[in-house]
Amino acid sequence: MEFSINLTAPEKAAADCLVLPLSGIKLPAALAKLDERASGWLSTLIAGADFSDKAGTVLSGYLPIDGAPQKVVLLQLGKDVSPASLRKAFDALARTLIAGKSASVTIALPPLKGIDAEDAVAAITQAIILESYRFTQFKSEPEPAPALISITLLLTKKGELKAAEEGLARGLAVGHGMNLTRDLGNLPGNICTPTRLAEEAAHLAERFALKLTVLEEADMAALGMGSLLSVAKGSTQPPKLIVLEYHGAGDGKKAAKPAVLVGKGITFDSGGISLKPGEGMDEMKYDMCGAATVLGTLRAVCELALPVNVIGVIPTCENMPAGNAVKPGDIVRSMSGQTIEVLNTDAEGRLILCDALSYVAKFDPDVVVDIATLTGACIIALGHVTTGLFANDDDLADALYAAGQQTGDKAWRLPVWDEYQDQLKSNFADMANIGGRPAGSITAAAFLSRFTKDYRWAHLDIAGTAWKSGAAKGATGRPVPLLVEFLRQRVEKKGKN
Ligand code: BES
Ligand code: MN
Ligand code: ZN
Repeated sequence: MEFSINLTAPEKAAADCLVLPLSGIKLPAALAKLDERASGWLSTLIAGADFSDKAGTVLSGYLPIDGAPQKVVLLQLGKDVSPASLRKAFDALARTLIAGKSASVTIALPPLKGIDAEDAVAAITQAIILESYRFTQFKSEPEPAPALISITLLLTKKGELKAAEEGLARGLAVGHGMNLTRDLGNLPGNICTPTRLAEEAAHLAERFALKLTVLEEADMAALGMGSLLSVAKGSTQPPKLIVLEYHGAGDGKKAAKPAVLVGKGITFDSGGISLKPGEGMDEMKYDMCGAATVLGTLRAVCELALPVNVIGVIPTCENMPAGNAVKPGDIVRSMSGQTIEVLNTDAEGRLILCDALSYVAKFDPDVVVDIATLTGACIIALGHVTTGLFANDDDLADALYAAGQQTGDKAWRLPVWDEYQDQLKSNFADMANIGGRPAGSITAAAFLSRFTKDYRWAHLDIAGTAWKSGAAKGATGRPVPLLVEFLRQRVEKKGKN
């Protein structure tokens, strides 16, 4: 798919399909010429009952110009355009275009009140990249690829060209990052093993010149990662700890302390000896979506060449039942030295994350954000709309929250107050790995917080947001947009200081 940006007038557009986004139900002055050539057809259509001022309304027809009828798609952006109404409208447009027959489209973006060309172009680009995603590698007869191959974005002001180019680059980078996350999430557990995740990291490292380190089982044992290794024990797949370093801001300077992203990489979560029920167990192949989010975010950061330092860390293994698997009641020693009584082997995410979180202290991080499909309780609390956000630092929580609002990839903060720690008491070890049914997502975060005392830390529970069940079953690519925005904001903040 090819995108380009230029300043041609809409009536001169040569594409198979001309998209006219509008705000409200009045013909904009910029379309007057086109309307005249079509003898008032456009204004009739816009004023007609089939076109409303509700964001996302789409109306298609053929412009009756002698000799050269052209397909036109009217798109309602909302009477009062907002980032949310724009997203809704562009999602609807992307569905129409990707399902349609036109190979080339021109989208005549009007100037929008309160929204700059960069954000508008990023939103439309991202919507089209996401909608064109297909996961067909295991289908003998894949459905045909979308007809659409070329997209031209028309602007009205020359001064907006540079911003629009930046928006295009961002929309592409975030879209590609999300689609990588989706691919990895959608791959089945027999293919997307810890070894495969390490290979994917190696691809990224090679393509974007990242530094890659992969710790093997023996390396982790030498570091004392008894908690992580206890989860991996029951599987025949070797565990890995993948470390990818992107040094976009250079080293040495104080401002260049890295943001570290830690992603849960359970490539299949059977529950272990505390086996899960069979129904829907296939969906536990998605239990590496935290890891996939780290890789997708890094991909986007590299494509944008953001001047930040980011380190991605992925603890990855399978959680399987076996004769040698960790059992309820077993006590393991984490890298931090703290001991853990494993009361439920299905609460394995925190067991691999805690050792990864101890490990990352060596990078002297500015912030650490872990991303994990950690608790079913998070789905009960926030549904599939919102990511659970937890933090030991208010500024960090605020920044992640704001990035979610900005991108529509929303997160909502829950407390990690000390009172919750009582639920993790163990009679035999320093802590238990579960805290009972009340506040299950919070006690999971409370568990992690015992390993993150030395730095600013946030935890994103993406159990509800990383994938969809039902007819449209599949990985969503969230929260890549939130994280890319968060990292972009760090650049802007630094620029101002
Ligand atoms: N990977 C699951 C969490 C999960 C469940 C994500 C459903 C998405 C959908 C995690 O490892 C898990 O099994 N958590 C348990 C914790 C419990 C044993 C304390 C859960 O949520 O049931
Ligand atoms: Mn589990
Ligand atoms: Zn899990």
